[in-house]
Amino acid sequence: MSQYSQLTLMDEELAGKGKQRIEWAWRKMPVLQRVMREWEKTHPLKDIRIAACLHISAKTANLARVLKAGGASLVLCASNPLSTQDDIAAALNVVYEIPTYARRGVDSETYYRQIHAALDSEPQITIDDGADLVTTLHEKRPAQVGQVIGGTEETTTGVIRLRAMAKERVLRYPVVAVNDALTKHLFDNRYGTGQSTMDGILRATNYLLAGSVFVVVGYGWCGRGIAARARGLGARVIVVEVNPFKALEALMDGNEVTDMKTAAARADFIVTATGDIHVVGKEHIPYLKDGVILANAGHFNVEIDIPELEAQAVSKRIVKDNVEEFLMPDGRRIFLLGEGRLVNLACGEGHPCEVMDLSFANQALSAAWLVSMHGRLQPDVYKVPPEIDERVARMKLEAYGVKIEELTEEQRRYLASWEAGT
Ligand code: ADE
Repeated sequence: MSQYSQLTLMDEELAGKGKQRIEWAWRKMPVLQRVMREWEKTHPLKDIRIAACLHISAKTANLARVLKAGGASLVLCASNPLSTQDDIAAALNVVYEIPTYARRGVDSETYYRQIHAALDSEPQITIDDGADLVTTLHEKRPAQVGQVIGGTEETTTGVIRLRAMAKERVLRYPVVAVNDALTKHLFDNRYGTGQSTMDGILRATNYLLAGSVFVVVGYGWCGRGIAARARGLGARVIVVEVNPFKALEALMDGNEVTDMKTAAARADFIVTATGDIHVVGKEHIPYLKDGVILANAGHFNVEIDIPELEAQAVSKRIVKDNVEEFLMPDGRRIFLLGEGRLVNLACGEGHPCEVMDLSFANQALSAAWLVSMHGRLQPDVYKVPPEIDERVARMKLEAYGVKIEELTEEQRRYLASWEAGT
């Protein structure tokens, strides 16, 4: 068996199902459709080798199709061991002929073998969700870094890692922080994570949220979205925050705000969205109620201290798909969804197509921008150029058929002046 077939899926039947789902998602991705139509004529990525480490979902497949239409020679790998949708991976390999090293539920070693398999393609552009391609290249394959024109990064966690690399002056090529584009985090992180986290929890549990005590840990854009959707479903939402401004905002948005121990003692559901480690940790586990549901919406499975949960439990077992029960010495049962990996993808299909349309249009256009800027950028973390961000917003509004106002010349002048008062 070749290395390619060991690390990936080539099943024809799965591929047929995946193709249907990719086409279904495409209908709600009008911005990417427009980029595709343009790129079929202009080929801005002609002969550029791209490796993309992304959650392998139907939306990602559509980004891959657009990059290929732009002329890129593209290889994909998974950005989380539990987020791959196998039918989509099969369709990418079999139908779209885009080599995709991914399958759901692989162990950590295989996960990194898949990343290395993608890096064997010697990419000139890296597209990341979590910065695993950038860090693996820098740490394990430094000889290859010189070939890289630049990279793009999808998520908050990845941008934090890249900024840390830039600060320590170890980052060796320019990377665009796609996450920080307005048309990314205001929509994907807030509405995308808000909806898809509820979707993942509901698919896994089929429990009622109305009337429940629902704790959201972290009130960044993702936490704000999750709390808003939980409130909308009738839950009594408690927010746990370390940042006083965000805590105040959470309070004025209509949530209760308190510390983790107090929240733990009352929670029916706890969802973490902080990007930090052990926010539900050793000291909180004794406070958790019998039957509590724990889930994580952050990028890595470190937010809930799972090793500590295992250490304190007398036994653990799978009680239904994506739900693990931990039996504690005092008889309490604590339930963990999707192994503490990002619940929207581990227990559901990930973000809705409409928001990934925005995020992935930024990804595609930023990759083309990096190619157009080849040799002119220093190794650093860059913003998505504001023209790209604004263009994405305008294209989406047009697709919705929404008109917006334009400033008159008088209004433009007024806003640029300082003399005029009352
Ligand atoms: N589907 C593809 N990429 C995703 C992401 N970053 N978050 C949620 N769903 C996705």
